[in-house]
Amino acid sequence: MSFTLHHTCPDTSARTGTLKTAHGDIQTPIFMPVGTQGMVKTLSPDELIDIVGAEIILGNTYHLNLRPGLEVIRQMGGLHKFSTWEKPILTDSGGFQVWSLAKLRKITEEGVSFANHIDGSRTMLSPEASMEIQATLGSDIAMLFDECPPYPCEEKYAANSLALTTRWARRCKEWHQENASKHVPWQLKPEGANLQHDLPQQIFGIVQGSIYSDLREQSAKELVEIGFDGYAVGGISVGEPEHEMLRAIENAVPFLPEDKPRYAMGLGTPPQMLEMIARGVDMFDCVMPTRVARHGLAFTLDGPLHIKNKEFEFDAAPLDETTHPALQKYSRSFIRHLFRAKEMLALRLLSLHNLHFFLRLMQQSREHIEAGTFVEFKTQFTKRYLNQS
Ligand code: GUN
Repeated sequence: MSFTLHHTCPDTSARTGTLKTAHGDIQTPIFMPVGTQGMVKTLSPDELIDIVGAEIILGNTYHLNLRPGLEVIRQMGGLHKFSTWEKPILTDSGGFQVWSLAKLRKITEEGVSFANHIDGSRTMLSPEASMEIQATLGSDIAMLFDECPPYPCEEKYAANSLALTTRWARRCKEWHQENASKHVPWQLKPEGANLQHDLPQQIFGIVQGSIYSDLREQSAKELVEIGFDGYAVGGISVGEPEHEMLRAIENAVPFLPEDKPRYAMGLGTPPQMLEMIARGVDMFDCVMPTRVARHGLAFTLDGPLHIKNKEFEFDAAPLDETTHPALQKYSRSFIRHLFRAKEMLALRLLSLHNLHFFLRLMQQSREHIEAGTFVEFKTQFTKRYLNQS
């Protein structure tokens, strides 16, 4: 069993656990910084470990398959070796990125063909192709290849899309069971890989079903029957109101096994993540903390702060009282200046700070769940963050 539950909150569905992977253990609840191109934008692996406190990062099948291409990564010994990130990696399957980035998509039973966003040439992804790419990248956790329906979405479309995702889920599992170990670089050649456990690549299912509760239930049940190492909830944070996002989690979690990790894909704000943890979610990823950092937004206990604003011109305080000791010495005034002067360091400092803020929120959540004080923590944090106290 690669997932061990430690504590469950008496008042909510929040829980702490440890997820074991070949490249090390992950304490949950956890936030996974996104490294679309194999590394988090503007940061180095050492900074991610020493300052952010990251335990696992996310890579993207869609992007890495197009550039640098599988042959480069295969010959370089897989994504861990290539990027020098020796800790766990989860890869998304490409389904979502095809939907959000590619043009002229054509979905068939076989898979999706599309004009890719780099040179516009026609590319094909199928359940088998996505699994093979993820195995060759050598991620610790691969995601199944799904269709993420848009929002809003008619129930009929959502039902047909879900049926396709479920058929693809069977094909993913089948391919993975038969073939993954023949492609995963550190399974083919364990010597020299920085392996912590003798575990294979894991594969997570993705619950779809849009805003329809019976479809979410059906999706969760069908995926559990196929059997995966963990279960994600996808198709959320695609433009729906926040209550629908939370309802999607509430409609899926009761049908997922207690003893497997649960992952909410592609979100969210700090208060949203606390609400999701309270509903039993263990894992998160989102480009938001690094993307908004590059636009000058810093997370603080009192809510987001726009560093370019004039009010910070003479502000000698650090970005936030909780920022990492290595970042405490930089004043808001100096970072604002760097930003206005278009200096790279500004993007890096805000990216480090924001990711540290998210990872610290996860660590605090874990501590409060274990201490039995999670509800109080969530209430106080959210009140201050939303400036309600
Ligand atoms: N990232 C955010 N949402 C999704 C989703 O629904 N599916 C996949 N594969 N990735 C996502």
